[in-house]
Amino acid sequence: MSDRRTVLKVVVGAAGAATAGVAAVPVAGLVVAPAHTPSPLAARNGGDGWTTVARLEELAVGQWIQLAVTGAEIDAWSASPDRRLGAVWINRRGEGADTLQGLSAVCPHLGCLIDRLGDHFNCACHVSSFAADGRALEGPSPRGMDPIEVRVRDGAVQVKWVRFRLGVADRVKEG
Ligand code: FES
Repeated sequence: MSDRRTVLKVVVGAAGAATAGVAAVPVAGLVVAPAHTPSPLAARNGGDGWTTVARLEELAVGQWIQLAVTGAEIDAWSASPDRRLGAVWINRRGEGADTLQGLSAVCPHLGCLIDRLGDHFNCACHVSSFAADGRALEGPSPRGMDPIEVRVRDGAVQVKWVRFRLGVADRVKEG
């Protein structure tokens, strides 16, 4: 009887240790993973942060156009290809490739999408309005629209997408 109890204790103890070991591996992975995971900015489109949003010939001179920014996004727990990262307003002010101006379409207040309304910009969520150059005019937005770098490579219009902190007056990059 005593031998049987001893055998049972050994079996139960071994099973418990194995279960704890199996459970500990993913937990350790979760704790360690963030330090070894590339940032979303570094992970997409070759790691240089530039994302193609259109062809130059698709943009009419003198008009703002809103374009989706998509790309792969990797965080500590998942990888999502072709995820919508945000949206930009781009204005082609002239014929040359160096005449492009970009503004984030993400409202600096709480992140709603900014629309065009007549000759200025408007966020309908809490009624913030912005001038044609992105300056804040009215409403709760704590700052103007955030500038986004734009370039042209081999006819492709590319933006360097950046997320900025919401709800604060200072422009703080978050990724
Ligand atoms: S999110 Fe744009 S005004 Fe609030």
